[in-house]
Amino acid sequence: MTANLEIRPIAGAMGAEIVGIDLAQDLSDATIAAIRRAFLDHLAVFFRDQSLTSAGFMAFARRIGQPLEYPFAKGLDGFPEITAVVKRPDQTIAFGGNWHTDTTYFPAPPMATMLLARALPPTGGDTQFANQYLAYEALSDGMKAMLAGLRWVSRSDKAEASRTREDRTGAERSVLIADHPVVRTHPETGRKSLYINLAHTAHFLGMTAEESMPLLRYLFQHQIQPAFTCRFRWAPGSLALWDNRCTLHAAINDYNGFRREMHRITLVGDVPV
Ligand code: SIN
Repeated sequence: MTANLEIRPIAGAMGAEIVGIDLAQDLSDATIAAIRRAFLDHLAVFFRDQSLTSAGFMAFARRIGQPLEYPFAKGLDGFPEITAVVKRPDQTIAFGGNWHTDTTYFPAPPMATMLLARALPPTGGDTQFANQYLAYEALSDGMKAMLAGLRWVSRSDKAEASRTREDRTGAERSVLIADHPVVRTHPETGRKSLYINLAHTAHFLGMTAEESMPLLRYLFQHQIQPAFTCRFRWAPGSLALWDNRCTLHAAINDYNGFRREMHRITLVGDVPV
């Protein structure tokens, strides 16, 4: 089937809803190519009212990329690559509740993440995204020149991230560490983006945390300016697909006392350069 895709941007900076498509259908290569084009152009794309089983979710994910397992939580029975991101009514901490890009403590972090809404609070629980091409482009030439040669160290045990994880497995005790360029070039678009994040960036490579923090703190604030962001309001059956190579995201934790359950798949990426 080839869908007639209608693409509706949701903000000036990034993000678009794709309407008129049923992801449970057998989609043509042309339709998948159109979705991928929209994903590269808008950085995050959103689909509403999808009725996808876990098998259907996996099948769609496999058309976009190669699913991989998340190291710090067990996947669903029969679907190890699907992680349930759950906040129960008795919990106050939300997984992913601060600005980050996913699992940068891997040498090759995932290129994209897909999130499917299964259960939602009556209000709240939106997700924010920030365009890191714009964050990079807004820096002065002097700052761009200074950042050009810098790398940073990503640690899975940085407190900002590890305290937002629930349902930890034994893997939580092992620490994953990788280092990456502060500015990366997108392998598909060729555009440069700022590639650090509050949750996982511990320090610049070759510097202490104390030496790194003044500049990192400035960049953490700079990269999430409202003008770089969009905010997605979920409904059951909403599905998001975002590009981890050029965006940050943060789950908004404003729904204590209610259950929110999302199913997440991350897709294999390459080594940032
Ligand atoms: C995540 O950080 O992967 C989850 C985001 C969300 O639950 O909105």
